[in-house]
Amino acid sequence: VEGNRLCQLLGIKYPVIQAGMIWISGAKLAAAAANSGILGIIGAGSMKPDLLKIHLKKARALSPDGILGINVPLLYEGAQQQLETALEEGIKIFITSAGSPKKFTSYLKDQGAIVGHVVSNPILAKKCEAAGVDFVVAEGFEAGGHNGRDEITTLALIPQVVKEVEIPVVAAGGIGNGQAIAAALCLGADGVQMGTRFIMTRESSGHQAFKEAILKADATSTMLSMKKAVPVRLLKNHFYEQITRLEEQGADAEQLNALLGKGRAKRGMLEGDLDEGELETGQIVGLIDDLPTVAGLVEKLIKEYNTAVCSLKKME
Ligand SMILES: Cc1cc2nc3c(=O)[nH]c(=O)nc-3n(C[C@H](O)[C@H](O)[C@H](O)COP(=O)(O)O)c2cc1C
Repeated sequence: VEGNRLCQLLGIKYPVIQAGMIWISGAKLAAAAANSGILGIIGAGSMKPDLLKIHLKKARALSPDGILGINVPLLYEGAQQQLETALEEGIKIFITSAGSPKKFTSYLKDQGAIVGHVVSNPILAKKCEAAGVDFVVAEGFEAGGHNGRDEITTLALIPQVVKEVEIPVVAAGGIGNGQAIAAALCLGADGVQMGTRFIMTRESSGHQAFKEAILKADATSTMLSMKKAVPVRLLKNHFYEQITRLEEQGADAEQLNALLGKGRAKRGMLEGDLDEGELETGQIVGLIDDLPTVAGLVEKLIKEYNTAVCSLKKME
């Protein structure tokens, strides 16, 4: 798969994107990913422009020749400032999410950027294509973090998105090893984006306690929560139980957001408050039982991918 059309578009060796994740994907993680031949993405959603600038400069210093981009969720205030800051720092690859692809695509393209947008259904993928987006990240509801309302699994989503659009499709949600990368490419995707797996690397900014909780987690440890507000897949903990109780009592979005308050995700994932913090993780947590370096992980993914491809046999 080296050099396929996604690799050519982004200038990367392997068609793998280390996902931009709030509180997790800072300079260290993105630079290590970029140095391993995949796309390193800084999760700008949790950063004010000044902090983003520091991370961008640091990532560039750690990876002078690597391919770096940023992820900007459009639901947060200040998205435009984040985009402007990244453009000033010479970033050329942008992945936008949680908003309309029409909002910033033309602006970014006019500045010579490559734009990807995250979608959870084929209709939105088509809208992205019409808006001039260069590639879509099609994310199934196995994924960690904020999620589409459609609850379409990656297995069902990818072929339906591939059928609808001509532009490259990146599969996301539930991809945790090289076998799953092979499966995504079999479904017609041009590459993958992996989030939860990259939380569990030495270079991610996740708190040690959060990483240890993921090591202990199994396939039943996450649930899609806050469905009446902004759906998010969480590791089950005390905060998750509080949300569930409120939901069972018929709480509306306002009540759910009031309980969420401000700073929950930071408290959980960066500061390691496993009880009261918001712990965003995907269904693939149960597969993860190590904490490698990014370089070690990428090497393992490629080996697993190659083994999987060799073991595919014709049905006679
Ligand atoms: C902790 C965490 C934070 C995330 N933050 C963002 C974000 O800021 N913007 C975004 O578009 N997606 C975000 N995501 C989703 C990832 O970019 C990615 O698409 C997803 O993790 C893929 O599914 P997986 O976790 O099963 O690999 C986040 C995911 C996690 C686990």
